[in-house]
Amino acid sequence: EGASSIDISTFTKQTGFTTLDNGFVNTSTARSKITYIDGDQGILRYRGYPIEQIAENSTYLETAWLLIYGELPTADELAGFDARIRRHTLLHEDLRRFFDALPHSAHPMSVLSSAVGALGTFYEGSMSTSDPEQVELQTIRLLAKLPVIAAYAHKKSLGQAFLYPDNSLSFVDNFLKLNFGTMAEPYEVNPVLSKALERLLILHEDHEQNASTSTVRLVGSTQANMFSSISAGISALYGPLHGGANEAVLSMLADIKNSGQGVERFVERVKNKEEGVKLMGFGHRVYKNYDPRAKLVKESANEVLSALGVKDDLLDIAMELEGIALADDYFAERKLYPNVDFYTGVIYKAMGFPPRMFTVLFAIGRLPGWIAHWREMNADATTKIGRPQQLYLGSTQRDWPQR
Ligand code: ACO
Repeated sequence: EGASSIDISTFTKQTGFTTLDNGFVNTSTARSKITYIDGDQGILRYRGYPIEQIAENSTYLETAWLLIYGELPTADELAGFDARIRRHTLLHEDLRRFFDALPHSAHPMSVLSSAVGALGTFYEGSMSTSDPEQVELQTIRLLAKLPVIAAYAHKKSLGQAFLYPDNSLSFVDNFLKLNFGTMAEPYEVNPVLSKALERLLILHEDHEQNASTSTVRLVGSTQANMFSSISAGISALYGPLHGGANEAVLSMLADIKNSGQGVERFVERVKNKEEGVKLMGFGHRVYKNYDPRAKLVKESANEVLSALGVKDDLLDIAMELEGIALADDYFAERKLYPNVDFYTGVIYKAMGFPPRMFTVLFAIGRLPGWIAHWREMNADATTKIGRPQQLYLGSTQRDWPQR
């Protein structure tokens, strides 16, 4: 709407011109009321509420409600939502056996995307994208079951037995128990872990039209159901330039430590653009000042490590790296600042998650955002199937050779 945007399809029809926008740096593909970002000011708001206030006061499920339904829930609405999600946590036994077919070495993100696709096969009868009750059921099932699938992907990689969900526990505590509990011993949830994980999940819940959310919307624009759309979103999140960056940051920090090369030498290699050497966890397409989530995550890193009594050299390396990069013109000129992923890996590691689970945690965090966008797209009468143009650069026409 407004003077600054043009209806590009009318423009294309009238003029025959098309735009080439590598990486969609200047193309809006949706009208949305969910999340507001001002990248120059470092502002992030969900439905108008500042992320700092949400992280301080809310829970994962309350924030999910806010994103999906647009307003804060009443106490009754939130209790009903929570109870409904708890009732849907169990996976069909055949889906549990689906994990048997996968190798132990499988990356948990591949397991997650394939298991979410497979999950949809159990609900073929309630996959309508136009029936509001079925859309609601898809919403609840995904929110309830993704954490269980994620924990099974973790247990699978460890070769440990899967636990059944404990629905007497809160969303986050249940997830911690499914990951760290065993059949052999009772599991006590550590409130420090629980609070920190809740906060990190909230910070990841939505980030408007990022690569995975745009993927969910694109797949959903074909009227594919929510399970298929979100399975595709998980695949998009897997890449190291997006959600996979949290795992990549930890390997970068470990490489710096193990190589003994020192942080300054590493920064020089980044600036020299050595092949494959990037400062992972730095830079963002939208934030050109600072990422407000990174500030909150850094506070949590210090709090969690000291509350758990963990001393980690990698946190020291991360802080040294941040200090050197922020004082260097190379990064200032390119507006490169730590993003949300820079410190998350250090916290997840202190909690006991292996690096291969880090992006899976991001996926659980982002799920409410994917659902909110899918539903907004699905309910919008102006939605059209996503079908970009191309600039064709190949041969125009050739005759098949006579042989
Ligand atoms: N380390 C070193 N240099 C960088 C980095 C980085 N992390 N990021 C960008 N640059 C440089 C580029 O080399 C380029 O330099 P040049 O102008 O001399 O050629 C300049 O900064 C602009 O970079 P682009 O790649 O054009 O920026 P873009 O907006 O396309 O990329 C991205 C954003 C993908 C996030 C990028 O900054 C990056 O690769 N960061 C590391 C991966 C990462 O942390 N991803 C997580 C993003 S947040 C999220 O998904 C949750």
